[in-house]
Amino acid sequence: MSKLLEVNGVSKIFRVGGMLRGKKLVAVDNVSLSIDSDKPVILSIVGESGCGKSTLCKMVLRLHNPDMGEIKLDGKSYSDKKSYDPKQFKLDVQPIFQNPYESFSSRKTVDTYLYNTALRLGIAKNRSEADKVVDESLKSVGMSLEVVKGKYSTQFSGGELQRVSIARALITRPKLIIADEPVAAIDASMKMNIVNLFKELRDKYKISFIYITHDLSTAYYVSDYIATLYRGCLIEYGPAKQIMDNPAHPYTELLMSSVPRIGDKWSEEIAMADMEGKEYAISYCKFAPRCPYATDKCRQAKPEPKDLGGGRMVLCYYPMTEKKKEAKK
Ligand SMILES: Nc1ncnc2c1ncn2[C@@H]1O[C@H](COP(=O)(O)OP(=O)(O)OP(=O)(O)O)[C@@H](O)[C@H]1O
Ligand code: SF4
Ligand SMILES: [Mg+2]
Repeated sequence: MSKLLEVNGVSKIFRVGGMLRGKKLVAVDNVSLSIDSDKPVILSIVGESGCGKSTLCKMVLRLHNPDMGEIKLDGKSYSDKKSYDPKQFKLDVQPIFQNPYESFSSRKTVDTYLYNTALRLGIAKNRSEADKVVDESLKSVGMSLEVVKGKYSTQFSGGELQRVSIARALITRPKLIIADEPVAAIDASMKMNIVNLFKELRDKYKISFIYITHDLSTAYYVSDYIATLYRGCLIEYGPAKQIMDNPAHPYTELLMSSVPRIGDKWSEEIAMADMEGKEYAISYCKFAPRCPYATDKCRQAKPEPKDLGGGRMVLCYYPMTEKKKEAKK
């Protein structure tokens, strides 16, 4: 099956200054995942603050270069400079950021941004074509040019403006939208509204989404697949419902035990990222210092990804799913 996106063994290493001067921080550690071309999906990336979600997505958006590994879009490697067409990339992959007010300066009207996107990227040749394209995109998110025309960003609520930024992303008819915490700055009552829109757009326009979130309840509701990151490592991956209902990694289990009501975030305990061992060259399971099931083996060598079947992967010597099976015997 052909792939829209392939992330193969990708790592990003930052040098950290200050007290830790000279140390290397592995923000993303040997992550592999993929999205098929012919089956649009919503892939949620979850994990506590600082686990590398945004860094991973910035690499997919070409805002950072990986230090190791390779990323491919439509089979073309990012490192193959000859086949890279920046304009085509902008058409195919669109970002949506956390705070929509930062995406639209309050000095220009919001529709100006939308027209500019349509004209600059050659989607429309002139203003009347741009009017049509912009109106269509706005209608796809439940708005219209009539409602938006002549207004500044400050005249919209956070939820409304996030819809406008989604409309802007839709102008290029992208194959992939990368949404980094798109509902974090939005009123709780509007969150479901926005994530519902992702589902609609996936089905109507066959767009895949990478949805980065702290909000597990919306992830549960919206995702086809879930990837859990922990200190840069992909520790669990698979179909969303299976992971949420029956997590295989002890850390995912800890996260899922906190799955709350719409809009809630991690519990205090989970939000407290344990910074120990974030540096380069960790030779053991990174979750071992917090894991109730850790053995000497876990403290001595890194587990390898384990294929659990059905598209599921876990990075743990003793998956919870197996423990539960044994307990039933
Ligand atoms: N440009 C940079 N230079 C140095 N360190 C960085 C840089 N960008 C990110 N980091 C570090 O890399 C790690 C991962 O950061 P990242 O922003 O990807 O986390 P995140 O999972 O998106 O967190 P959050 O949920 O808070 O947004 C963090 O420890 C962060 O401090
Ligand atoms: S490998 Fe060991 S320490 Fe790591 S998550 Fe699994 S049981 Fe816990
Ligand atoms: Mg982030």
